[in-house]
Amino acid sequence: MYSTGLIRDSSAMVKMVLNLSGQSQQRYPLAFDYQATTPCSEEVIDAMKPYWNECWGNASNRQNRLGLLASAAVGLAREQLGSNLNIKPESLIFTSGATEANNLALLGHARAKAREIGRPGHLITVTTEHHAVLDPMRALRREGFRLSEINPNADGLISPVDLINAFKDDTFMVSVMIANNEIGVIQPIADLARTCKQRGITFHTDAAQAFGHLPIDISELGVDLLSLSGHKLYGPKGIGALVMRSDLPMLPLYWGGGQEMGLRPGTIPVPLVVGFAKAAEIAMRDLVKRSEKLTFLRNRLWEELNQLLPDLILNGSLEQRLPHNLNFTVPSVLGSRLHRSLRPIVGLSSGSACSNGRPSHVLRALGRSSTQAEASLRLSIGWHTTEDDIKLAVKAIAKVVNDLRNW
Ligand SMILES: Cc1ncc(COP(=O)(O)O)c(C=O)c1O
Repeated sequence: MYSTGLIRDSSAMVKMVLNLSGQSQQRYPLAFDYQATTPCSEEVIDAMKPYWNECWGNASNRQNRLGLLASAAVGLAREQLGSNLNIKPESLIFTSGATEANNLALLGHARAKAREIGRPGHLITVTTEHHAVLDPMRALRREGFRLSEINPNADGLISPVDLINAFKDDTFMVSVMIANNEIGVIQPIADLARTCKQRGITFHTDAAQAFGHLPIDISELGVDLLSLSGHKLYGPKGIGALVMRSDLPMLPLYWGGGQEMGLRPGTIPVPLVVGFAKAAEIAMRDLVKRSEKLTFLRNRLWEELNQLLPDLILNGSLEQRLPHNLNFTVPSVLGSRLHRSLRPIVGLSSGSACSNGRPSHVLRALGRSSTQAEASLRLSIGWHTTEDDIKLAVKAIAKVVNDLRNW
């Protein structure tokens, strides 16, 4: 399509790509990948603005006015996020995103716990987790911990009984995400966390896809550790947080200037922290309205697709699902052809943005074959999606599928 080889300036690249999309009102490809990331909202950009070059101090240096201002901005952001989540502000540790928050939670707690009890123990997670959970868990297995990866039911959900069946005498940590990034299903976290609490087992949840899209009250959920990301809720990329119960044993992943209670050393990116808090504030303010709009549009997308292509197979529960997610398998077409034909028209994905083109491990865990997993589409819509976008996407998908089938 275009080569970045000759472009040395990233803003020139953006202009070139946008020009390629033409001057029409409708931008192609249509944006149907809001679970990979979201555009930063104007309000968030405005909130961050002064912290790039006016209030540019180091939040850890309170010996001068600029540093004090930066520190106050970080303190305020921490309080705003804390009140959104119904937690004490001190329980938030800022990280570069949910990947780092997951790694800190899982590696940091497991290693601290093993040091405390003098041996590694048993861990549980679910096969449909994001690789930002699966990979640190598997790294812990290489360090000597034992790991059970449990399979969800056909609808993508797990129950407290599934967890209870996997418990061993020395299980000390469980990690189950709130909402799945590929199939959007929402796990019964409060019930799962309660099952763990009764046995003194630490419960971690990856809330990257849920925060800003579902109401989250950490006290009500009863979780011990929770990971957040800024860029899934119209905030900046490169920022997230780990929420941590204060009495939990935890070791840092690296060492340095002692920031974030010594658990995440390094200079705090003040503009990103401010933008993250602003994005969360807006997301909470608009949550009900946005959720209603997206549920309506998503249901319409599914219903209209079903009318034209009645043999589509829905992946994951429709009821226990994020409002902005749809994921289905298209029978009798080759996945590579399906994706190649749709690419110029609808910007969607086959699975996680981080799956490196392999057939989705999430869909495989639901029982889909590799061929079916490859011929599956994840469509995720956002605040800016319109009814026209839905109509155009339905038309495009139905035409591409029918053409491929008649080929
Ligand atoms: C469920 C889940 N966890 C973790 C991540 C990684 O988040 P981040 O990009 O903030 O590191 C993602 C991003 O796609 C995700 O969907």
